[in-house]
Amino acid sequence: MRIDIITVLPELLESPFSHSIMKRAQSRGLLEVHTHNLRQYTPYKQAQVDDYQFGGGAGMVMMPEPLALAIEALQKDRTYDEIIYMTPDGELFNQKMANKLSLKGNMIIICGHYKGIDERIRQHYITKEISIGDYVLSGGELAAAIVVDAIGRLLPGVLNDETSALFDSFQDNLLAPPVYTRPADFRGWKVPQELLSGDPKVIDAWRHEQSLKRTAERRPDLLNEDE
Ligand code: ADE
Repeated sequence: MRIDIITVLPELLESPFSHSIMKRAQSRGLLEVHTHNLRQYTPYKQAQVDDYQFGGGAGMVMMPEPLALAIEALQKDRTYDEIIYMTPDGELFNQKMANKLSLKGNMIIICGHYKGIDERIRQHYITKEISIGDYVLSGGELAAAIVVDAIGRLLPGVLNDETSALFDSFQDNLLAPPVYTRPADFRGWKVPQELLSGDPKVIDAWRHEQSLKRTAERRPDLLNEDE
C-alpha cells in the first residue's frame, strides 16, 4: 500500500510513521508513506496556498489551484483508489472503515487547515471525506496520522502475531477483554483463575463473557449495530 499525504505541515507527520509498528510496516516494504508540501505546488507568489473566503467571514480557505496541481502531479505517476480529505464534517472513522481501507492499493490524503479547502476540490477530486471524531483539530495532519496508523497495522505481515488484530476492540463490534501479565498476584490483586487454568475453552469463554460485559457497560451502542 502506498499513501501520499498532501499537507502544509510535513514536519508534523515525520514522527508518527518513524517508530514501532509503522516503521516496521515500511521497512518490511508493506507500506509506503510519502508526505508532500503543498507549498511546492502553488503557482502563486510567496508560496501562497490560502486566501480570504468569498462572501466574507473570518478564516482563510485553501485555494483550489495548488491542491489540484499537487493531486494531478501525483496522478501522473500512478492511479489512486481513493483521494481522501480529512475534515470534521466527513464520515466518522471507525474500525470497519479501517478494515475496508486496508484493502486498497494507493491513496492520497489531503490535510485541511484554516476554514478548510475550496468546495470545488471536494466536488471534483475527493472520493472520500473522513472525520476522526466530533471535535475540531487545528489541521488534518494528526487525523491523517491516526487513519494511516489504524490502516497500516492491519496490512498482512505488519503485526508479528498475524491473529492479533482479529482480537482488537471493535472487530466483531465488541470491546477487547481485560488483559493481565506477571505476576499472578500483585499486592494481593489476583489474576482471574480462568486465565491461569491452562484450558483454552475456559479461557476463550471467560474472554468472550468479559468482552460482552465490557461492551454492554461502556458501549451498548455497539451491540445494536449490524454486521
Ligand atoms: N480536521 C480538523 N478536525 C478534524 C477531525 N475531527 N477529523 C478529521 N480531520 C479534521
